[in-house]
Amino acid sequence: MQYVSAGESHGPALTAIVSGVPAGLTISEKNINSDLARRQGGYGRGGRQKIEKDRVQILSGVRFGKTLGTPVTLMIQNDDWVNWTDRMAVFGDAPQDLVREVTPRPGHADLLGVLKNDMDDCRNILERSSARETAIRVAASGIAREFLAEVGVGIYSYVNCIGGVTLDEEDPIRDAADYRPLAIEMSELRCPDEATTEAMKARIDEARESGQSLGGTFRVVVNGLLPTLGGFEESRERLTSKLGGAVFSIPAIKGVEFGIGFQNAKVMGREAHDEIYLDKKKGFLRSTNRAGGLEGGMTTGMPLVITAAMKPIPTQIDPLNTVNIDTLEVAKASTERSDVCAVPAAAVVAEAEVAFVLAQAYLDKFGGDNMTDIKANIEAFKKRIKTMSR
Ligand SMILES: Cc1cc2nc3c(=O)[nH]c(=O)nc-3n(C[C@H](O)[C@H](O)[C@H](O)COP(=O)(O)O)c2cc1C
Repeated sequence: MQYVSAGESHGPALTAIVSGVPAGLTISEKNINSDLARRQGGYGRGGRQKIEKDRVQILSGVRFGKTLGTPVTLMIQNDDWVNWTDRMAVFGDAPQDLVREVTPRPGHADLLGVLKNDMDDCRNILERSSARETAIRVAASGIAREFLAEVGVGIYSYVNCIGGVTLDEEDPIRDAADYRPLAIEMSELRCPDEATTEAMKARIDEARESGQSLGGTFRVVVNGLLPTLGGFEESRERLTSKLGGAVFSIPAIKGVEFGIGFQNAKVMGREAHDEIYLDKKKGFLRSTNRAGGLEGGMTTGMPLVITAAMKPIPTQIDPLNTVNIDTLEVAKASTERSDVCAVPAAAVVAEAEVAFVLAQAYLDKFGGDNMTDIKANIEAFKKRIKTMSR
């Protein structure tokens, strides 16, 4: 299963075509729309979220709510397009009064994009490098999430730090796997503790008042995974690298950790690894989950716990210095309407990225034509694993 996406931030729409989807998978627009709404939320978001009400439209590959095994086309309309029809026209000349954007923002793709593509207007870059594009990632990965739900896998995420205000977690990995998704979604910052949420909001207010922005960290948790997804045989099969690459593909993500990866670098082996034991009913289990659900590039069957770090948003009301690409003189960076903090939204995008990689791993292992065969293969695998552990 793969997808390609297209669409500019202020163009008519964002689209994606997902191919390799197994036949017979139930798809719910409601579920996808609910993930899209979660991506739009969060204290500290900018004005764009008030304009857009993201809703997916499925244009192919689904009949009577079930996939046909043919490519699935998804579309999200940009409601802001009506305000940009002249400045983002597909054909015709640029308007006489068009103001080119010539003051690239430090931390964004503006400068390197114009140099790379030989452009004289940062808008030609930022229309695609804008994280508006992550909306269609969430929609496309909605197909993967439906698949995972049907094979018993659940994904959620939560924010555990914003601008240095950190959620108190006694045992981060154990706590991470125990949170209730509902408690997370009740928080305006998708943080499962009320007092921490309030402290984080105050930090965001501080950043906004000083014309700046904030980053933070979040965790993605996946429960219900079967062991041995991924592979150790070839470097490209290692799920660690596929998942890491997927999370790093999200704009502004600058660090990724599996389990207690960074803490593990400081301790001796006994405190780092997860002892194996045999449960008569459940098979091979681990007494701890420091590895965060991955060993040797494969899932262990324990919860997958990934932590990611997001840098502060590049666009700031009080901008940093830059160079005007027309005059080559010192200037202040441009200040688009922007989020002050988007960590809760980035966490939802990370759920989507992780879901897509995991669905691919299931399909690689259990076949990809139709849900009946896939489920039968999963059952046969579960039986074999149990037999091995007796
Ligand atoms: C959900 C989400 C929302 C974002 N919102 C903004 C924003 O409003 N303004 C902005 O300048 N950057 C925003 N970013 C970050 C930029 O897209 C990102 O920093 C930029 O594309 C440069 O890529 P890099 O940070 O990976 O180097 C957002 C990122 C995510 C994941």
